[in-house]
Amino acid sequence: MLKTIFLASDHGGYKLKELVKVFLIKNNYTIEDLGCFSLDAVDYPDYAKILSDKLKTYSNSQGISFCGTGIGISMAANRFTHIRAALCTSIEMASKSRKHNNANVLALGGRVLEDNLAIDIVNEFLNTDFEAGRHSIRVDKI
Ligand code: RB5
Repeated sequence: MLKTIFLASDHGGYKLKELVKVFLIKNNYTIEDLGCFSLDAVDYPDYAKILSDKLKTYSNSQGISFCGTGIGISMAANRFTHIRAALCTSIEMASKSRKHNNANVLALGGRVLEDNLAIDIVNEFLNTDFEAGRHSIRVDKI
């Protein structure tokens, strides 16, 4: 199956989700937007759960999650054993989250990140591979 990038957000990340969605579509990624779909207040754990359910079925895929800071949605997503969510605020963190941690979910804070930096982080995350080797041993211990 074609790799899908699943997007999930609460209201605090909604605007950044929409921006990232446009970027991904323009760059020919296959995406599925799991909501939320407006600025109306919702609870980020509900969207972390929806994303986690999708990634259980489509284990080859990746997720990008959003809330105001990225903290809540990453905490909630990481409660699921098949999720390795990385809250990233720099390109370096995005790179290492893939190379060393094999993160399958990127978490971003819509209220704390500059738009351009957020896009650069997304780009890095989606285009960096897990290095495996010694890192596999550590990831397997999580
Ligand atoms: C919602 O107001 C806000 O608390 C949420 O988006 C997030 O920042 C939580 O970690």
